[in-house]
Amino acid sequence: MNMIFMYEDMGRKMAKTTNTSTLKGKDFLSIHDLTTDEFREILDLAADLKTKQKCGIEHKYLEGKTLGMIFEKSSTRTRVSFEVGMYQLGGAALFLSSRDLQLGRGEPIKDTARVLSRYLDGIMIRTFGHERAEELAKYADVPVINALTDLLHPCQVLTDMLTICEYKGKNLKGLKMAYVGDGNNMAQSYLYGCAKAGINLTVATPEGYAPNDVVFENAMRDAKESGAVLSLTKDAKAAVRDADIVATDTWASMGQEAEHDERKKIFSAYQVNEDLLANASSRVIVLHCLPAYRGEEITDEVFEKNAQIIFDEAENRLHVQKAIMTLTMG
Ligand code: CP
Ligand code: NVA
Repeated sequence: MNMIFMYEDMGRKMAKTTNTSTLKGKDFLSIHDLTTDEFREILDLAADLKTKQKCGIEHKYLEGKTLGMIFEKSSTRTRVSFEVGMYQLGGAALFLSSRDLQLGRGEPIKDTARVLSRYLDGIMIRTFGHERAEELAKYADVPVINALTDLLHPCQVLTDMLTICEYKGKNLKGLKMAYVGDGNNMAQSYLYGCAKAGINLTVATPEGYAPNDVVFENAMRDAKESGAVLSLTKDAKAAVRDADIVATDTWASMGQEAEHDERKKIFSAYQVNEDLLANASSRVIVLHCLPAYRGEEITDEVFEKNAQIIFDEAENRLHVQKAIMTLTMG
């Protein structure tokens, strides 16, 4: 992105911004769709926006623009970080719960997309089937941002990449990461994120809970460019061996509440605890996208030991999403 900044008195005044990014006007549905340069561009701008926000430097790149946020599932971090992010960028965000929208009463997504495009400069969606986000993007004339589907959670994984840069340095190539738990939207997005970044990732899941085959195959193709080594296993201990980063997520995602008790039994050997981490690098960091269920996928001890990192990760949602919105909607 080529933005021209002119600051007066440590940035109180910003003269002009020009968005020449290749992401301008595009949807952001999956990390797999990004070029390596676009992937880097988002992370670099996120770091820059984080500095600007912390130093009180004005960065109203979306002045007068409006984001609609469709939620078909619950959220704490996503809703607040997108809404605050738009405010800090000089724009406004509208919370659109499917409980209140006509969408929730059966209005087709393709009609909703065309109507909302007449009012808004961008649409964010959190939904169940990934095809709903794809259909919204197909019919909308404004950029659509995926804020979690059953398949992917790309905003979160880009955020995790920024957090890894902060703790392990900007050169991510060759780092060793393990994801332990359910082969869900987070695991699948880590496959795409690590493939772009060049991080060697092992995903450890119980039998029958491995990530989606198509995602794995796509990620393997992306990994050829970056040199990342991606693998799947059932052995949590082997996955974690010498890992620089260990990540986990809930064993029962939104929409799987009825399976919770059964999953608790199936996943019991996949808890991130001190015993498991004894196999990792002595400088290992643990990531969790939150919400966390202590005593299930992570122990309280491991969580609290890594709390600073985990809450930095939560904060970074704000900075990364501001970068995504600036580049796509600016
Ligand atoms: N990590 C994450 O997406 O959190 P929320 O579900 O609270 O938005
Ligand atoms: N896998 C979890 C992520 C929550 C942010 C879910 O989909 O519920």
